[in-house]
Amino acid sequence: MKGLILSGGAGTRLRPLTHTRAKQLVPIANKPVLFYGIEDMAAAGISEIAIVVGDTHQEIREAVGDGSRFGVDVDYIRQQAPLGLAHCVHIAWDFLGDDSFVMYLGDNMLEQGLAEFVEEFEAQQEQSPDPSRAQILLAPVENPSAFGVAELGPGGDVVSLVEKPADPPSNLALAGVYIFDSAIHEAVRAIEPSARGELEITDAIEWLIRSGHRVSHRLLDGWWIDTGKKDPLLECNRLVLDTVVRRVEGAVDGASRVEGRVVVAQGAEIVNSTVRGPAVIGANTRIENTFIGPYTSIGDECAITDTELDHSVVLEGCRIEGANRITDSLIGQHVQVTRSSERRQASRLMLGDHSHLELG
Ligand code: DAU
Repeated sequence: MKGLILSGGAGTRLRPLTHTRAKQLVPIANKPVLFYGIEDMAAAGISEIAIVVGDTHQEIREAVGDGSRFGVDVDYIRQQAPLGLAHCVHIAWDFLGDDSFVMYLGDNMLEQGLAEFVEEFEAQQEQSPDPSRAQILLAPVENPSAFGVAELGPGGDVVSLVEKPADPPSNLALAGVYIFDSAIHEAVRAIEPSARGELEITDAIEWLIRSGHRVSHRLLDGWWIDTGKKDPLLECNRLVLDTVVRRVEGAVDGASRVEGRVVVAQGAEIVNSTVRGPAVIGANTRIENTFIGPYTSIGDECAITDTELDHSVVLEGCRIEGANRITDSLIGQHVQVTRSSERRQASRLMLGDHSHLELG
């Protein structure tokens, strides 16, 4: 079994963060989303992984390297434009050969591991007289029109699939994990681009069904989040922070309190401040005269002074000074938020394109 992780595409929904940065590298509890997917594959015994990359390929290569830090081999496949999830399979044929593979969307996160999903597919490949050629992971959702949607037959096999339907046939969305055998290669070559101009994996799976092949499913256990938007990303950060184990490696002075599930990374300094977990404070970050409240991740090399901050994700290299209260926020790399010494009721701003600012 091989692994194919899709990390190309354009991250329009997380702008402005993703103008320059791959959305798959946005951190959850200070670790890039993509790393969780690679670790899940490694834990399921998959050691040969290819990552499909687009314009942000350089940054992804630098972050992931050859995979040795995860105990796997990672290859990269360059996609010239985001032409669809089935196009990714198309261009990965050389790497995949005739092997079965798990396909994983690089900006999705799942609570459950992949091991059982993979074992179940492999077992029925060996034992069933009519094995399924694809297995998909489904999750009941309230807004199925935002996803690929599956319809199940009486025996539990998938009988149809449709991408982002206006009139969904069920509430079962395709979570971003699929297993295919080599039949998918014929399917991705047989389909035409959709109305949005992409080769849809849902159409390729639908083609398998129409060609008489079995497609099985599993219902998702636990949470699943497509981290491509701010609020789901904050929610995901919250869910992962709930599982961190307390580890204080940085320096905490006598006037500070570090309460509950908190990671204070090496080189970080907490001075005359309270950090109330769950929270993570990155390496070489200095927190001074500040209250950090629950569900907050602060990246490496930040300086936060005279501030109250909770339920937020702050990326590396930020300077925040004198912000009375920041909540429910996602703050990109190297952002500066400071308070003017002049007592004027005015804010001075320099915001990137597509920024969101909600003044309190
Ligand atoms: O999140 C689950 C949904 O993901 C499924 O329910 C849908 O059936 C499926 O089509 C997909 O929909 P999205 O519109 O959310 O896909 P998105 O464009 O966000 O792409 C998902 C990942 O795949 C993302 O990490 C970028 C990558 N990608 C995407 C495209 C279109 C590529 O690497 N190449 C591509 O051409």
